[in-house]
Amino acid sequence: MGKSRISASMMCADLSNLTEVIKIFEEEGIDYLHVDVMDGEFVPNFGLGVDYIRGLRNLTNIPLDLHLMIKDPEYKLQWIGIKETDIVSIHYESTYQVQRALDWMKPFNCKRFLAINPATPICMLEEVLDYIDGINLLMVNPGFAGQKIVESTLKKAENIQKFLKENNKENIVVEVDGNITTENAKKLKNFGASIFVAGTSSIFRNSINDYKDNIKKLRNAIE
Ligand code: DX5
Ligand code: ZN
Repeated sequence: MGKSRISASMMCADLSNLTEVIKIFEEEGIDYLHVDVMDGEFVPNFGLGVDYIRGLRNLTNIPLDLHLMIKDPEYKLQWIGIKETDIVSIHYESTYQVQRALDWMKPFNCKRFLAINPATPICMLEEVLDYIDGINLLMVNPGFAGQKIVESTLKKAENIQKFLKENNKENIVVEVDGNITTENAKKLKNFGASIFVAGTSSIFRNSINDYKDNIKKLRNAIE
């Protein structure tokens, strides 16, 4: 399962004070910046793109957790400027050839994650266990911040934990994304999650003056 890590969801960060927000994240030892890349086709929203990613790199050395919610991601990987310290998630339904897409991610030496939506069956993980470093388990249908958890995903997290154990693949990391309140984070930690995407449900609550406190509360819940 490994150490618990926090990945701050940058779609929740106000652009007008981004530098200050990043400074807080560096001071508080935030592990990853979660970047939701959205193409308006795979999900019904447009999101953070190549220029935004380049801008973030200029602001900080915190590794990126690139969540690609785009169609045919394998053909777009070279646009992004992926670093070895990054996590890159692609969605099971975003390409006809998932194994090939995961293969094409290999030369970047990043951590390869497969993202699965609340209704994606977990049995298909069996065919990709040798291709991935982690699973990004969506607790909401992706595209928007501020949604409520799909309750069945809690049971699903527990089933994934069992499934990885049965397959001797407990080294595969489980990330959870969407409505990660401190309460949900606690439950999910018990089901084996170790990377927690923190958005409006936790660290971005209230104003920037509260972010440090919010981070401490989340960290207490998952340690
Ligand atoms: C989904 C996104 C958001 C993000 C926002 O891909 O990454 O759901 O988690 O956090 P919340 O859900 O707390 O607003
Ligand atoms: Zn995400």
